[in-house]
Amino acid sequence: MPRVVLLVSLVAVLAMATGDPAVAAARGGGHGRLIHLLFYMHDITGGPGQTAVQVIKGPGPAHPVMPGSHFGDTTVMDDALTEGPGASSRVLGRARGTYTLASLGAPVLSVSMTVALTGGAYNGSTIAVAGLDDISASARELAVVGGTGAFRRATGHVLWRTAKMESRDHMVLELDVYATVPGAAPAPPPRADVVVHQAALNHNLD
Ligand SMILES: *[C@@H]1O[C@H](CO)[C@@H](O)[C@H](O)[C@H]1NC(C)=O
Repeated sequence: MPRVVLLVSLVAVLAMATGDPAVAAARGGGHGRLIHLLFYMHDITGGPGQTAVQVIKGPGPAHPVMPGSHFGDTTVMDDALTEGPGASSRVLGRARGTYTLASLGAPVLSVSMTVALTGGAYNGSTIAVAGLDDISASARELAVVGGTGAFRRATGHVLWRTAKMESRDHMVLELDVYATVPGAAPAPPPRADVVVHQAALNHNLD
C-alpha cells in the first residue's frame, strides 16, 4: 500500500475515533472529511535540475536581513513533491506558483501556489495554498484555500518546515497538509463535467 494512502486512512480513522475539539474543528465542526498528506518539496533555485526561477528583481535597496535580496524579489516555481526527503524519492506531484519577498524588514515570503498531485490516491486533484513563509521560524503555517477533484471546497492548513539544505541551491521543505473537504463521498472525476457541458452544448445546437 503506498505510504500516502496508508497515512490518509490512518489519519481518517484517528480523526473519527478521537473526541479532540481541535480535530473536530479541523474536520469542520463534525462535518466533512479530514485528509492528511505529508510530502517534501524540492526548491532548486540554480544549477542542474533547477525548478525555481527569479522573474522579478526588486528595484529597492538591499533587504536589511537577507543579503543579496530585495523587497519584491519574486520567484516562479515548479517544484517536485516527493514521498520522502531524498531527491530520488517517489514523486507525488508538483508545487506550482510564486513566492515574493514581501516584508520590508523580516525574511518573510508571500507564497501563492497550487499543489498538483500526480501520483498516489489523489492523482489529478489539486490543492490551493496561500500564506506567509517566515524563513527564520522553525515552523510556519499557511492556509489551504481551496482545491479541485478530491479537494473541492477544501479548507485547512499546511505546516511548513525546512527539512534540510541538499546544497546551497536546493532547499527541501516538509509540508504537512491538513485539508477538510465537505461530505463523505469522493468527488466525481473532473472529466465528467466536461462531458456534461459538451452534451448540453450539442443539445442546444440540435
Ligand atoms: C495519473 O493520472 C494520469 C491521467 O489520468 C495518468 O496518465 C497517470 O498514469 C496517473 N499516474 C499514476 C501514478 O497513477
